[in-house]
Amino acid sequence: MSDVTTLEIPVKNSKPVKIEIPFSKYAHIPVIYIIAKGMKDAGLLENYLELGVSKGSCFNVVAPLAKHAFAVDVNKELRRNIEHNKNLFWFRGNSTKFLQTTQFKFDMIFIDARHTFKNGMRDFEAAIRTMNPNCLILMHDTYPPTPEFVSDSYCGNVHRAATYIRKNMIDRFEVLTLPFYYGLTIIRNSLGKQCLFKRETT
Ligand SMILES: C[S@@+](CC[C@H](N)C(=O)[O-])C[C@H]1O[C@@H](n2cnc3c(N)ncnc32)[C@H](O)[C@@H]1O
Repeated sequence: MSDVTTLEIPVKNSKPVKIEIPFSKYAHIPVIYIIAKGMKDAGLLENYLELGVSKGSCFNVVAPLAKHAFAVDVNKELRRNIEHNKNLFWFRGNSTKFLQTTQFKFDMIFIDARHTFKNGMRDFEAAIRTMNPNCLILMHDTYPPTPEFVSDSYCGNVHRAATYIRKNMIDRFEVLTLPFYYGLTIIRNSLGKQCLFKRETT
């Protein structure tokens, strides 16, 4: 696991320009792990859902903390990277379609499939219906470190979805974007429970 990501920008009639960013493309995973661990320890993590699993680098770390771990990916080959998880529910296909049709409710949803504004918003809006009261939604790549990272092969423009939610849906959601590791946006239903105890405090 490298601690630096190097992006090479092609330059016409010259050598590519190198941009170095001081964290690896996997640096978000320990952060997601610690959030999931907190949810588990509080008794709030039954169903974990990851949209877009790729090599399973994040899914394989978080899935053991949950009772049921749901994975969705368009690429059927990727199942083999995660199928050793005994609590796996695997769905091959489009992330938005899955969210629109599933009968399950989730406690933590990691939106990490197609990294465009349009798809990020579609996934988020479809995910709302599937949230348990204390559900956390996480979106990755929402703080690209340089303009060059807003390319399809890196972060895409999914950061615009996080900005849109923060600006337009703040009456319904608490939204925080961590400005490192390419950006991790944490979204919580503000109408959800504000305290673990039965008697609410203000
Ligand atoms: C950035 S990778 C996911 C990385 C993984 N979450 C992690 O942190 O290790 C994106 C994944 O999303 C999948 N994908 C892309 N578009 C999708 C879509 N519309 N629905 C479901 N999966 C999609 C790709 O096949 C790829 O495996």
